[in-house]
Amino acid sequence: MGEGVGFGERIAIKSRREIERMREVGHATAEILLELRERARPGVTTGELDEIAARALEKRGLNSPFLGYAPGGVAPYPAVLCASVNDEIVHGIPGSRVLREGDILSLDFGVEAGGWHGDSAVTIAIGEIDADAKRLIETTRDALEKGIERMVPGDRLSDIGHAVESRAGKEGYGVVRQFVGHGIGRAMHEPPQVPNYGRPGRGPRLRPGMVFAIEPMVNIGSEKVRVLKDEWTAVTADGSLSAHFEHTVLITDNGPEVLTRIEGSH
Ligand code: MF3
Ligand code: CO
Repeated sequence: MGEGVGFGERIAIKSRREIERMREVGHATAEILLELRERARPGVTTGELDEIAARALEKRGLNSPFLGYAPGGVAPYPAVLCASVNDEIVHGIPGSRVLREGDILSLDFGVEAGGWHGDSAVTIAIGEIDADAKRLIETTRDALEKGIERMVPGDRLSDIGHAVESRAGKEGYGVVRQFVGHGIGRAMHEPPQVPNYGRPGRGPRLRPGMVFAIEPMVNIGSEKVRVLKDEWTAVTADGSLSAHFEHTVLITDNGPEVLTRIEGSH
């Protein structure tokens, strides 16, 4: 989500019943995202992937929290999927763009069912990609993992972002600051905002029953962002490649539980 989308401070603690619903919607999010990954290859358009995602939702009787989403009066988001290619960081609008061998593609997908939300993103290679792109993807995936590892009761909110930034910064990459992770549950975007950077040991203590979407966006070059005239597509200001990984994660007494992870997913 975009930084500065205003919301209050109270962080919801989900009940056991609510967590069960979020497990179900998270599982569906993961299954459809995995299907999209498998369908993305050279010659396919991003619009075709959006159609596949829309049909998968319809078949299961699920809704899209992305379609029509319009925070702060921007143009309503026109698709169920975000498909961001190469220097596109996030919120790429699917359309006639044809995927080519050597591209990297970030797929960001969300599901709503019975008022509960799941949100997940992955960056994948289209055919063979070069070593720099591979290292960016691996680092961003690992940065998400490092953030998730800090989602344990007693840690503080900023420990998550600090862990993400430490991992990506070690490679000399730019960690995007303009978009942040978020609480998730009855709304796709709930308090708190979860930046992918920051000093450790600050902010509220993490407690069992909190659910956050952690979503680092990492650029090979500068962290600076430019938004295109379509009001959505965010690209790197310097044209460098960008990767994005996201999971919806529950904090439990036994540590983090990744609600959007199934066999075969990131
Ligand atoms: N994961 C993204 C976010 O949290 C996707 C939502 S943007 C939408 O901001 F417009 F596509 F809904
Ligand atoms: Co999100």
